[in-house]
Amino acid sequence: MLLVTGGCGFIGSAFILQWLAQSSEPLLNLDLITYAGNPHNLDSVATHPGYHFVHGDIGDSALVAGLLAQHRPRAIVHFAAESHVDRSSAGPLAFVQTNVVGTLKLLEAACAYQGSLPAQQAAAFRFINVSTDEVYGSLEPGDPPFTELHRYQPNSPYSASKAGADHLVRAWHHTYGLPTISTHCSNNYGPRQFPEKLIPLVIHKALGGLPLPVYGDGLQVRDWLHVDDHCAALRAVLEKGQPGQTYNIGGRSERTNLTVVRTVCATLDELRPLPGGRKYAEQISHVTDRKGHDRRYAIDDRKISSELGWSPRVAFEQGMRDTVAWYLDNPQWVQGVTTGSYRQWLTQQYGTA
Ligand code: NAD
Ligand code: DAU
Repeated sequence: MLLVTGGCGFIGSAFILQWLAQSSEPLLNLDLITYAGNPHNLDSVATHPGYHFVHGDIGDSALVAGLLAQHRPRAIVHFAAESHVDRSSAGPLAFVQTNVVGTLKLLEAACAYQGSLPAQQAAAFRFINVSTDEVYGSLEPGDPPFTELHRYQPNSPYSASKAGADHLVRAWHHTYGLPTISTHCSNNYGPRQFPEKLIPLVIHKALGGLPLPVYGDGLQVRDWLHVDDHCAALRAVLEKGQPGQTYNIGGRSERTNLTVVRTVCATLDELRPLPGGRKYAEQISHVTDRKGHDRRYAIDDRKISSELGWSPRVAFEQGMRDTVAWYLDNPQWVQGVTTGSYRQWLTQQYGTA
């Protein structure tokens, strides 16, 4: 079986849903259910015989050691993290605690467990570290995209904490021989993303008739990948990736933030038109820029594409349309996560909920 950490979050839950739909191998989800974790993301598999859930912290060494000894997974797919850049500049400590210290504790437990396995199983064991393209820093407009050899230059407390975790993962491979693989993915989008991130935030605010906050000039560039494509890439890495290697994963869809926001608005105009011919884009509002805002990320995916045969399948325009439609069709999901603490964050970040 697999041990997945952070499976109640946006990408972890998509991975679990895809895994259980495509494989008969069982899976154990260890999640602390922070503000970003939502067990309802997995309601559709709650009674699936292959799905098991444990509420707990990756930093709880005794718990993790017990789970590994009891369930004897052949791999760990490590998603659990604090993942929001704006929250990391408002409160960095939780990011170091979860992303660096939590990953260190998980590595220690994984290493002790892997060392206890018979030689063949130990060699086949994998620790997949789900990292980010943000560890490479920011690109200028004409720069070539990030390859796996790009130097680390993290600029936010979030990316610095993910870089710290990556270095630990690398060290556990080199020092202790743990069969680790790190992946560096670009911006994901799709269903069940917590509405503090750009795309679901804009959908939520647009439907509420509120200003759509675009940081600075809105000409920052991100590369967008549908979450299901990311999960398929992780499956390929798990099956065919080489221990000690790193793989960049991207969507071949570089867009400015303003283009993304306008795409959401145009899709809403079509699917949920406003009365009187008004357009959602009229709600766009340029606000104070993010502190230390990275200008551009872009991914060179030639390694994963040529070595593991993976490439993205979902075209950005179709994926965005499906995503907007999902949020329109699932108002109860949005209602369930936009609680008091969510509104508190909006007030802290934007001055209004
Ligand atoms: P998310 O914030 O939606 O979910 C994180 C999950 O981790 C939540 O379910 C939360 O409850 C859980 N968690 C947090 N601390 C924990 C702890 N100490 N123990 C156990 N569980 C804990 O994040 P996401 O967007 O799904 O991202 C998942 C991973 O992918 C992260 O490592 C992130 O850095 C990485 N990543 C995300 C993106 C993206 O665009 N969202 C892109 C590249 C990489
Ligand atoms: O690149 C991968 C990373 O993508 C992941 O590692 C992170 O976990 C994930 O959160 C995401 O980080 P970003 O900072 O790029 O995502 P976010 O949705 O927060 O912002 C996307 C862009 O939109 C970014 O340039 C900031 C901008 N933005 C964001 C918000 C929330 C706005 O202009 N207005 C906003 O209100």
